[in-house]
Amino acid sequence: MAAETLRKRSGKDKGSSSTFKTTKTKKEKDKPGGINKWVAVLCAVLLTIALVRVLYIKPNNLTSQSYLPLVYPECCTGSEEQLSRLWGTYRPQVYFGIRPRIPESVIFGLMWMPVHNPEYVLNHDFRHTSEQSDLKSFTWTHHDGNRFGVQVLQDKGYILETSFAKTNVMLQDWSARVKVRATGAAESPQAIHLYWYLGIEHNQSKVRISRLPNGFSVYGETSELGKFHMRYKTVNADVKVMHNAYNCGENIPLHLLTDYVKGKLKPIPYTGRGPVVTPIIVAFDPASTACSESSNIVIMQLTLPLPAEVEIVYENLNIERTVTLEGAHFDDLISSYMSDFNKKFEEKFQLKSKGYTDDHLVFAKSTFSNLIGGIGYFYGRSIVKSSEVEKPIYYWPAALYSAVPSRSFFPRGFLWDEGFHQLLISKWDNNISLEVIGHWLNLMNADGWIPREQILGNEALMKVPKEFVVQNADYANPPTMFLALESMLTSMQPSEILDHHSTLKKVFHRLTMWYNWYNTTQVGPLPTTYRWRGRNGTTDRELNPKTLTSGLDDYPRATHPTDEEYHVDLRCWMAFASRSLTNLGDLLGINVDKYRETAEILSDNDLLKKLHWTGDYFADYGLHSEVVGLKNTRVAQNVVEKRRVVRKLPQPQFVKVQGYINLFPFILMILEPSSPELGHIFSTLKSDNYIWSPYGLCSVGRSDSYYLKYNTQHDAPYWRGPVWININFLAIRALDHYAKVEGPYKDLSAQLYTELRRNVVQNMYKEFTKTGFIWEQYNCKTGKGQSVHPFTGWSSLVVLIMGEQY
Ligand SMILES: *[C@@H]1O[C@H](CO)[C@@H](O)[C@H](O)[C@H]1NC(C)=O
Ligand SMILES: *[C@@H]1O[C@H](CO)[C@@H](O)[C@H](O)[C@H]1NC(C)=O
Ligand SMILES: *[C@@H]1O[C@H](CO)[C@@H](O)[C@H](O)[C@H]1NC(C)=O
Ligand SMILES: *[C@@H]1O[C@H](CO)[C@@H](O)[C@H](O)[C@H]1NC(C)=O
Repeated sequence: MAAETLRKRSGKDKGSSSTFKTTKTKKEKDKPGGINKWVAVLCAVLLTIALVRVLYIKPNNLTSQSYLPLVYPECCTGSEEQLSRLWGTYRPQVYFGIRPRIPESVIFGLMWMPVHNPEYVLNHDFRHTSEQSDLKSFTWTHHDGNRFGVQVLQDKGYILETSFAKTNVMLQDWSARVKVRATGAAESPQAIHLYWYLGIEHNQSKVRISRLPNGFSVYGETSELGKFHMRYKTVNADVKVMHNAYNCGENIPLHLLTDYVKGKLKPIPYTGRGPVVTPIIVAFDPASTACSESSNIVIMQLTLPLPAEVEIVYENLNIERTVTLEGAHFDDLISSYMSDFNKKFEEKFQLKSKGYTDDHLVFAKSTFSNLIGGIGYFYGRSIVKSSEVEKPIYYWPAALYSAVPSRSFFPRGFLWDEGFHQLLISKWDNNISLEVIGHWLNLMNADGWIPREQILGNEALMKVPKEFVVQNADYANPPTMFLALESMLTSMQPSEILDHHSTLKKVFHRLTMWYNWYNTTQVGPLPTTYRWRGRNGTTDRELNPKTLTSGLDDYPRATHPTDEEYHVDLRCWMAFASRSLTNLGDLLGINVDKYRETAEILSDNDLLKKLHWTGDYFADYGLHSEVVGLKNTRVAQNVVEKRRVVRKLPQPQFVKVQGYINLFPFILMILEPSSPELGHIFSTLKSDNYIWSPYGLCSVGRSDSYYLKYNTQHDAPYWRGPVWININFLAIRALDHYAKVEGPYKDLSAQLYTELRRNVVQNMYKEFTKTGFIWEQYNCKTGKGQSVHPFTGWSSLVVLIMGEQY
């Protein structure tokens, strides 16, 4: 069986050399050198006291795992179905990388550089990690989340195509291909340096490398994978290889690989003749190529004239095979997977039958593929704190299989983004979604909390500003996993639910624990109200103190944060979560009366109106001033900074800001179809200067005093005007719902649905055609894509909007 080829891991927790750890051991270093008897006795007594304290100390809930069973085992065991996803392109943080879903195992990846003036290219044109601005575009054009993917990367004057494919589950083999061709532009290079590397994340492995006439052969072995063999070579054995060289390193930290390789590459004279004439190429110093069994990295260079094509063939040597996935066999497999993909894509989203053009199909497939192809596998420890501990401490080492918001800018897991991602991914493959959700729920601590941003491992850590690393266990984030689960369950066949019954039960129990954490720690001042934590009530630097926890970062809330405020969006999320848990429980035959009751109370439209309806729209309630501004203020001699001035006394009142928050009872479908407030929202949605635009709904209304306002001197508007696709998706989905159920606003809803859907799709498509990217947000005035790109996280929900799959 396939499972047996994976060796069990031992000694999981390797610890780490962190600053947090060293503070604890500092005492030991101060010990005097000569120990006499009395000191020894004293030490023994102190040690005993310390031990007793450790043993009797209240267990720390913050960094202890929930006692509930894990949804999926953490690593390397599991069903054959899960093992079929062992290998994949699970390294979204690099342009092309492959790894198994095993913690601290092996990684593979591509680096490249055109053959030009080497001084110049090393600094500017060396490629490895996914970046926002060095390529013209890069996207998976086809990716099924498991068996294969094809990616196109447009660099300066040349185009790369990378592909990846696996044969069958039992073999655990895979192959990859890299094709490069020049576009014929003036800047096009004639040749390319292609580096393929193998990195081992721990040092208990063995590698042996040898040259082939047209490439390299590497034998390797690790405790988890057993023996394997990899070839890196040109597809066509007759191609003239301009240069081949390799380099190995020992104990090289893999997150520093780019710098390591750049440091080893030197310009050398090129003496080869034809087909490309160049005085110089970039290569490893021949003296430093020695590989030993304890090398933890091997980097292989092939310098080739364009067009170039190389292949990588990885074979699991623990199993006999009859066919090798290379040459024409690989091409055939890719084209057969491609045609399966195209067929399934039409089955799922029906874009062709809805009359979309071929160009729209390219847009939709690439958007979808970049989300599912961006799924990564991460391993490491979060750093967390709470009001109960003095200093930040480490969470347990954990693995996360998750999609990412942006391969270039946010290549890691984000809790509230993930619920949106899985709305789309589950339409394609419920099994992948369930496993992703399971991994997230596995990260729950003994209090029922899940960290918001997952910065696991050094590679992830390098991309995150220091102030965002520590996750606070007193803070929440919208529980969007319920969105995904609810959508999955409504689409699952009874037989499928039966297949997953035991997993869904584990999911259910973890979800209730998560829910209870929200329902007890995030409550508001009045019964049935809720409040986001984490707002700063003492700052005078922010125009309106941020509410990062809500997901809508700088969306304006009460100007003077207090414990007396309560937030309408969180109340709606809780109503939604209560309802989802009720549905899930009913499906699994578990008694959920308690959740049903809470769902009914939180969905009571009269009560909701009493708490949050201003007369014009829904809003938060809190201590709020209607007139505040930022003003240049002398804060020290010769230092002028912007500080907030409050021009009207704050009062307890509704927070009258026009924007997304007004819509939550509608977009999470808490309002009855016959609700007059729903009618009011519909009839005002297109009012002048409110939030309607030809590109989608804008986050803050155009006539609102916060529209496009900076929050501090340097903090540009984020959720204060731009169009965001996740909220537009929720609005479109709710309009579809209210257009389908009986009620007085059915027709109006249908009309708004058609217009909003068309606006969002048209604009995103136009921007994609123009720029090659899907964007984090779209300008409310011009529709222009802006901020992070590619952002194929929740912006990829446009595929569901096109396919009308809600
Ligand atoms: C393996 O790595 C550990 C920790 O980095 C180090 O202490 C040890 O010496 C290494 N072993 C070998 C054989 O390189
Ligand atoms: C999904 O998982 C179930 C349960 O493990 C399995 O029976 C089913 O074949 C899988 N479906 C797909 C499409 O992989
Ligand atoms: C609130 O803001 C003030 C001033 O900007 C800052 O000194 C303080 O540390 C902040 N408090 C918290 C809890 O972040
Ligand atoms: C949620 O909290 C409220 C207030 O404490 C409580 O009345 C209700 O029963 C809780 N709901 C659930 C499902 O636990």
